[in-house]
Amino acid sequence: MVLPIYLYGHPVLRTNTRMVTPDEPGLAELIANMKETMYATDGIGIAAPQVGESLRLVYIDVDVLKDDMPELAGKNMVLINPEVTVDENVNTVTREEGCLSVPGIHESVPRHERIHLKWTDENWQTHEEDIEGYLARVVQHECDHLEKTIFVDRISPIRKQLIRGKLNNIAKGNVSCDYRTRCFKPSRR
Ligand code: NI
Repeated sequence: MVLPIYLYGHPVLRTNTRMVTPDEPGLAELIANMKETMYATDGIGIAAPQVGESLRLVYIDVDVLKDDMPELAGKNMVLINPEVTVDENVNTVTREEGCLSVPGIHESVPRHERIHLKWTDENWQTHEEDIEGYLARVVQHECDHLEKTIFVDRISPIRKQLIRGKLNNIAKGNVSCDYRTRCFKPSRR
């Protein structure tokens, strides 16, 4: 089932997330719904808070970018309770990002070019891997959602000021979007 995407300004995106346990009710269905929702909205990553669930759960599929970045072919992952660690000596790279919860906005965000990731997959196998390049960016963006952080929190104060009006409109649901969304306080029209 395709779920509505919770928009910037909704408190669920600023709510603490909890660890997922194997007996989490409806977990398999939630994962399936997150995948379906992400493909329906043409996203490359989705975090549980974006569908209103305060859980440490992410789905990423960057295969669609393989024409430009062949190393991303076939790359998809369910991340349960992911843990990102960063060596602060690793370079940052600045590149444009967008987010299903912030439709119509694309801004340059600095990210570490390499991270160390520990996670559990949907079969409850644990993994540990160094991840670099664009996939590392997507993982950092999605794992930020689990820490109540949205990419626009990481842009320069001047840029943030410039898009303030657009962000306020998104928070009110005054945004055109070709997928179903949910905002906290819809403006009355
Ligand atoms: Ni996002």
